[in-house]
Amino acid sequence: MIFVDACFRKKTPYTPIWMMRQAGRYLPEYMEVRNRAGDFLSLCKDPELAAQVTLQPVEILDVDAAILFSDILVIPMEMGMELHFQKGEGPLLERPIRSLDDVEALYDYPEERLGYVYETIGIVRERLPKEKALIGFSGAPWTLATYMVEGSGSKTYAAIKKMVYTEPEVLHALLIKLSEAIKAYLLKQIEAGVNAVQIFDSWASALEREAFFEFSWSYMVEIAQFLKERHPEIPVILFPKGIAGYLDGIYGQFDVFGVDWGTPMELAKRELGERYVLQGNMEPARLYDREATKKGVEEIIEVMGAREGHIFNLGHGMLPDLPVENAKYLVELVHDLTRR
Ligand code: CP3
Repeated sequence: MIFVDACFRKKTPYTPIWMMRQAGRYLPEYMEVRNRAGDFLSLCKDPELAAQVTLQPVEILDVDAAILFSDILVIPMEMGMELHFQKGEGPLLERPIRSLDDVEALYDYPEERLGYVYETIGIVRERLPKEKALIGFSGAPWTLATYMVEGSGSKTYAAIKKMVYTEPEVLHALLIKLSEAIKAYLLKQIEAGVNAVQIFDSWASALEREAFFEFSWSYMVEIAQFLKERHPEIPVILFPKGIAGYLDGIYGQFDVFGVDWGTPMELAKRELGERYVLQGNMEPARLYDREATKKGVEEIIEVMGAREGHIFNLGHGMLPDLPVENAKYLVELVHDLTRR
């Protein structure tokens, strides 16, 4: 598989590409299936329909990898928190975690309740062409904890940051519980057939440097090491969003570092390019315009070269109203400009 080879810095015929949130509302075909499912969570829980939307970006855009269709918040949900997605307001978790009692009341083995995810993986792997990879994923402990303590997305992160500085032991208890669950969950995804895994730390940027390494990165690295010891053949991709200033402190046993759009690729290459394959990092909003897309691609390829050590991606997720034609154009352009 071209994508998996690229994760291990092997020679590939061109630089592979996939896009974070490549399955979603910008695709009319996705809206059709979501409407059939009723709502987003019902879609996540229906293996046949979830498999169909997982495969759509491969069929429509010709990306080199599919990413499992699900959500990072199925873990808190299957730990017993009530999860809602409200139109236009993003996710909401009821009765947020505020004490050690709340942490202890969470169910310890959410991975046992996520059978619908492993079933989706089985269906997708069966239908996906052999040369295309399937990526499994989880949220990072810190990002999941942020949703669980705040109860929703947040602008200030006041509730969880208060915990960082006033009750760090409560937060560590939650992060340890999440890390154990994520290890077991990703292991089960691998056993079900995914060819790589990515851990999304979307809210890494909420933390100052020292706190980032203590409350976020150490747990990501521990999960990565657990997986590499058991499945060295499965690439592990870590994506901490918005930490350009901390790259010199990055360490650990994993394969691919996901670069967000706010981190200059040149800086990432200088700090990390010898130790890790880099994935990224075009600003997703460039896809609103063809010329902006072309310029974005050229700039990134100019830095990374048409050679090993790079996987093309956006620097964060697709937006719901991006033109599909430009996404197709992006995939063609990356393949054409890097063919060797
Ligand atoms: O295509 C893919 O990348 C695979 C599926 C995927 C989804 N969410 C589907 C989804 C993945 C990998 C995620 C991860 C995820 N979910 C993250 C980490 C990545 C990131 O973007 O930082 C986060 C923070 C979440 C939590 C979450 N779920 C948010 C903030 C939202 C958006 C809410 C909104 O209404 O805009 C979701 C919902 C969600 N997850 C959608 C999709 C396609 C939209 C749901 C819909 O169909 O209405």
